[in-house]
This record gives sequence, structure tokens and C-alpha cells, in this order.
Amino acid sequence: FSDFLTDTFNRQHDYLRISVTERCNLRCLYCMPEEGVPLSPSAHLLTSPEIFYLSSLFVSQGVTKIRLTGGEPTVRRDIVPLMHSIGSLRSKGLRELCLTTNGISLHRKLDSMAEAGLTGVNLSLDTLDPFQFQIMTRRKGFDAVMKSIDRILEMNKVGAGIKLKVNCVVMRGLNDREILPFVELGRETDIEVRFIEYMPFDGNKWSQGKMISYQEMLDIIKEKYPDLQRVQGHKNDTSKTFQVPGFVGKMGFITSMTHNFCGTCNRLRITGDGNLKVCLFGNTEVSLRDLLRKGNDGNPVDEEAFEALKQLEMDRHEGRISNETPLGWGEREKELLEVIG
Ligand code: GTP
Ligand code: 5AD
Ligand code: SF4
Repeated sequence: FSDFLTDTFNRQHDYLRISVTERCNLRCLYCMPEEGVPLSPSAHLLTSPEIFYLSSLFVSQGVTKIRLTGGEPTVRRDIVPLMHSIGSLRSKGLRELCLTTNGISLHRKLDSMAEAGLTGVNLSLDTLDPFQFQIMTRRKGFDAVMKSIDRILEMNKVGAGIKLKVNCVVMRGLNDREILPFVELGRETDIEVRFIEYMPFDGNKWSQGKMISYQEMLDIIKEKYPDLQRVQGHKNDTSKTFQVPGFVGKMGFITSMTHNFCGTCNRLRITGDGNLKVCLFGNTEVSLRDLLRKGNDGNPVDEEAFEALKQLEMDRHEGRISNETPLGWGEREKELLEVIG
């Protein structure tokens, strides 16, 4: 495993998340304002050959899992050919190629993505009620999302092997009544529903009162399913995993606000405009795009990219400070934490 991807806490960063677009076709209340987010000029965004180049570089150094995210990755016009090219890195050591998506236009692209080597889909769905969907996402599209879920399950019946997780951000007064119906999804279906604590992002009007903590969710679920069991997840999971005995599916909790998981974080991130980040909340970024574009011959020198990684000083990766405080958070988040205690 490359030294460049190992930090002083011996965390091996073998999981790369690449944001392939900043755009999105929904406007979830907890994520984007109605007017959308300011977009980078397109010349600043990574091209598909650049994304592929960086993917190969990281895979050559020991990255085994790549997740494409956004915005909404399926709105990138050439997402399928891009996945085909990244999928070809399986012969070089890539084991998982995953997508985090809202599922709106996924069903149309799923078959070709599966051919490209898609191994996992994390699908955001916060409600099982079409009306509530429109409130929470400020758009229509519930049926399209369900169609994507159905298609994955159908494909899996004939061996597609696409691991399906549903991400559900729980907000008080909006979808907290739906925790139990979401748990029920796992009774007969091999889905992992992950309940996510609502996090403060710029402009999402977060307040402590709207956040439902892991403990509160667990209490609600245990009241109905007292024999709920904790199950072993993978060592770098963001979620704590549980199962109701007899259910096919599982459930997880992403406890970013109350119990951080920085100590086992193994993720590297590349933003839409080509910056490399080690922490979701960290501000240290280095532009891989500028490095790539510096070479006039369009053939960047690998060593330079690795120098860039070193500049990020993995040994200062915020996760080292303690395992108790959300780390690498900006001052604003730290202040919020003091408020919520
Ligand atoms: P897998 O473990 O590969 O299934 O994916 P994931 O859970 O890391 O990613 P996904 O894109 O499904 O994101 C789920 C939630 O985890 C989102 O709410 C993210 O904001 C959150 N998340 C992802 N990575 C981190 C992280 O490093 N720190 C924190 N605090 N939250 C994260
Ligand atoms: N708090 C918690 N989770 C969020 N997501 C987006 N914004 C927030 C937030 N403010 C989740 C979405 C998606 C995942 C990538 O991030 O539900 O599934
Ligand atoms: Fe944000 Fe995802 Fe909702 Fe789009 S679908 S607005 S990226 S949470």
C-alpha cells in the first residue's frame, strides 16, 4: 500500500469519493436553497479524461473503492461512459465502483451502469409519501425514485449484485413519523436503510431542534422492535449497523452530529473543480486540476500529484485529535457543537 495514502494514524485511505458535478435536479431542504448553489465555471471543472486519469493514479497507489457523487452524478451528461472507463480499472485493483444518487434519473441508466461495473448504489430517499417528497425535495419525482429502487431489486434477483443502501436524513416535524415505515422496508427486502442525523451546512437553516439524534431514533425503533440487534459492519463504515431478527435487510445510523467516526475515516475526496480534500469538514484542499493542467504535453507527472498529496499532510488529518469530538470541523460547526453539548 502506498505511503502516500497512509497517515500517521495508520489509516489507509483506500476509498476515493469523486464529485462529478455540482448540479442537482432536486432541492432538498437540508442541502440546497431553492435557487441552487453557485456553480463553478465549466472550464474549472474536471473533464472526464482528467477524472479517469486521477482515478487510475489513485488505484495504482492502492485505492480499491471509488464512489461518484455530486450534486447529482447522473445529471452529468457523460456519466455512463465515464463509469465505463473507471470500471476498466477493475483489472488494476479497483474492487468497488459506487454511486450516491437521488435516483430520479437513475432507472434509465442502471443497465448500462451495471455493465460498466457498478457495485453499489446509495440512494437518497427521505420519505415514502409522494406529497411529503415534494415538500422535502421541492420537486416532483417520487415515482421515478421508486422505479430506480425497483429496477435495482429486479436486477439483483438475476445476479447484478448491486448493494443498495437508502439514505434518509431525519428532520423533526417533517419525516420523523416515517422512521418505522422505513425500518419495515427491510422486512422482506435486502436494503440497508441508513438514518442520518441532520447536519448544518451553509444556508440549510439547521437548528438543534430539527435534528433527531441517534439515541432518539434508536429509542423510537426499540419501542417497536425491542430485540433489535447491533451487527458488525465494515471497519470503515460511516454508519452503525443494526438488524431486526428475521428481517432480510439491515438499518444503519450515520451519527455525524453526536458520535463522529473520524478515527476510522478512510476517505479521500476530489471536488468537482478538482481539489483534493481529506476531510468533509476540513478546509485544506490542494488543486489536482492545476497540477494536471500545468503539463503542456497533457501528460502530468505522477510524482507531482503525490507531492500534492504530501502537501495535504496526512499526518495532520483532523481525525487524529480525538475520537470524541467531530474533527476537522470549521469554527462554525465547532460553535454549534458547543451549543448542542
Ligand atoms: P459507503 O460507506 O461507501 O456506503 O458511503 P458513505 O456512507 O460514506 O456515503 P454516502 O454518499 O452515502 O453519504 C452518506 C452520509 O454520510 C452523508 O450524509 C454524508 O454527508 C455523510 N458522510 C460521508 N462521509 C463523511 C465523513 O467523512 N464525515 C461525516 N461527518 N459525514 C460523512
Ligand atoms: N445533513 C445530513 N445529511 C445530508 N445529506 C445532504 N445534506 C445533508 C445534511 N444537511 C445527505 C443526503 C445524501 C448524502 C450524500 O448526504 O441525504 O444521501
Ligand atoms: Fe442535495 Fe442530494 Fe438533495 Fe440534490 S438530491 S439537493 S445533492 S441532497
